[in-house]
Amino acid sequence: MTNALHIEPRIIMTPGPAEADPRVLKVMTNPIIGQFDPVFLSLMDDVMAMGRQVFKTSNHYTYLINGTARAGIEALMSAVIEPDDKVYIPIFGRFGHLMAEIATRAKGKVHTTEKPLGEVYTITELKREIDAFKPKVVAIVHGESSTGMMQPLKALGTYCNQHGILLIVDAVATLAGAAFETDAWHIDGVIAGSQKCLSAPAGMALITYNKRIEAIVEKRKKIEQGLDPHSQNPRMMPSNYLDLSQLQAYWDATRLNHHTEATSMLYAMHEALRLTLEEGLAVRIERHALNMRALLAGLKAMNLELFGDKKHLLPTIVCLKVPEAIDPHRIRTALVQDFNIEIAPGFGAIKDEVWRIGQLGYGSRKQNVLSLLTALESVLTDQGMVLEEGRAKAAALAVYQT
Ligand SMILES: Cc1ncc(COP(=O)(O)O)c(C=O)c1O
Repeated sequence: MTNALHIEPRIIMTPGPAEADPRVLKVMTNPIIGQFDPVFLSLMDDVMAMGRQVFKTSNHYTYLINGTARAGIEALMSAVIEPDDKVYIPIFGRFGHLMAEIATRAKGKVHTTEKPLGEVYTITELKREIDAFKPKVVAIVHGESSTGMMQPLKALGTYCNQHGILLIVDAVATLAGAAFETDAWHIDGVIAGSQKCLSAPAGMALITYNKRIEAIVEKRKKIEQGLDPHSQNPRMMPSNYLDLSQLQAYWDATRLNHHTEATSMLYAMHEALRLTLEEGLAVRIERHALNMRALLAGLKAMNLELFGDKKHLLPTIVCLKVPEAIDPHRIRTALVQDFNIEIAPGFGAIKDEVWRIGQLGYGSRKQNVLSLLTALESVLTDQGMVLEEGRAKAAALAVYQT
């Protein structure tokens, strides 16, 4: 016999999955009820209403996709992109490549540009590409968790809106941790993940889209044969599971019987959104900003260098250059083994050059920041760096005291 599962908590300071809020985990132990139970339906309506507030939108369709964040990205992009549709994807890290791959699989005519890692786009650069390529859709990442960069979106949203271009944004690493304004920035469709600043377990994507996308979804509508034998549509979406025309009909008054909604995960998202709004979006965003300022002050006090453009740092995730003569993997292993703290390595071309440190949602706490700085100072000293004991923690504390 194996023993009953028991996982000791860790201090997670990676770009995700972040620590789930214990109050979110607790609601998941509620009993299972049916997916058309009136209690369950009213929880779904609550999720839509609270989701709108967190996305800062009046979009009716704001709901969950059962699957990780990329399921939401794939659902939204493959709903909007039809074969030969022109799609422009400005890439500045790993997750821009993901959007390009999804657009290609949806058979779009995809045009990409790539920024050197650690940079974002100027509006002039984006306008130039848009004017030359004339896309139907622009898809871009807001917070690139692979490089720690945040792309400004307001001017891009305004430009796309003026030119009748649809703008789809991956806000997976930013929603509920950094300022994000769906309607004010004229963004047509947005995707967020449950496991980042919303502090729920991985396995859900929260999406929102406006009437312009809704109109495309309606035109591509195709109901499963077993539910509607007469439903035909040559423009139907390629996936049944991620078909927004059927999914939105489950979340609206039609209550179409599509998939079985992941019951306990919906409870989790309900509580995650409720807690976000209870704290207050602005307060939550300021909490992330303050903890990031303290973390950066501590890293600077150890003479550690940040990766990328300092003017566009993400307030939720920072990429830190690995100092010369330091083994990045030994440091990460020592942090876990000796201090119970997890940070992440880099991806792709900068795999061994950076560490990625996240402080997301429930994990964005003074105690976590101070624990990491103390631990990092200790393991770097063990590997031969000369550091003044306690200086990093003191620098962070000074930020909290101002
Ligand atoms: C910015 C961004 N986009 C997309 C994803 C993909 O999310 P998931 O792993 O939940 O599918 C991630 C995950 O780390 C991410 O950070």
